[in-house]
Amino acid sequence: MRRKIIAANWKMNKNINESIDFANKLAKNLSELNDRDVIICPPFVNLQAIKSIIEKTPIKIGAQNIHFEKNGAFTGEISADMLKSIACDYVIVGHSERRTLFGEDDRMINLKIKTVFENGMIPIFCIGETLEERESGILLAVVERQLKVGLAGISGSFIEKIVIAYEPVWAIGTGKVASNEQAQEMHRFIRDTIVKMYNNEFANSIRIQYGGSVKPDNVSGLMAESDIDGALVGGASLDPESFTRIVLYDR
Ligand code: PGA
Repeated sequence: MRRKIIAANWKMNKNINESIDFANKLAKNLSELNDRDVIICPPFVNLQAIKSIIEKTPIKIGAQNIHFEKNGAFTGEISADMLKSIACDYVIVGHSERRTLFGEDDRMINLKIKTVFENGMIPIFCIGETLEERESGILLAVVERQLKVGLAGISGSFIEKIVIAYEPVWAIGTGKVASNEQAQEMHRFIRDTIVKMYNNEFANSIRIQYGGSVKPDNVSGLMAESDIDGALVGGASLDPESFTRIVLYDR
């Protein structure tokens, strides 16, 4: 049985006071939780404050991005060593907003995934097709390319730990959630692709989150699908009560 994993992607939202307030509320709501993984991915500047609040809870922290170079003249960037030094657990890599608004391509994402693993953290590797790609029937080819290039040269011992987030771009922030069947179909395809690239064992242990307009009232249907192991939540993760309801979708 794969352990469910639910992550909050705050994107560019919440200042330090709002972050601390949220973390205190969530820590209280989830203090007893021990059967699933929960991650908060705030803006970089709030990571450490949140870490200190949730340290004695089962909640973990994740960054929303990373640079693949070790250090140097990369104004505005954050390195793996910086994240590691504040005990960051996860890093979101290749979010569709990074791909479309900030020009990240599959090769760059591959370098970032390698950097995250080499520094002992776990990538949440985002993939997914645009509406145009879905409507023109190339959705499987697009996701397969994202997986093959994104994971090129990454060994099986690392791969077992990866978290993949399938986020159809047309469902992100639009209120248009993929149907349970559409999501399950793609999650199955992703797992089958991992079988071909690696083996059955890794494919069965990798956790695949669904992301794109996940809300308290649609999460349980998605989670009931056999290949959906969690959720990456944007808008609905900004309110502690709404995010708590998503995490506790089956209670
Ligand atoms: P959304 O965002 O839940 O607001 O659609 C999801 C994401 O971008 O990770």
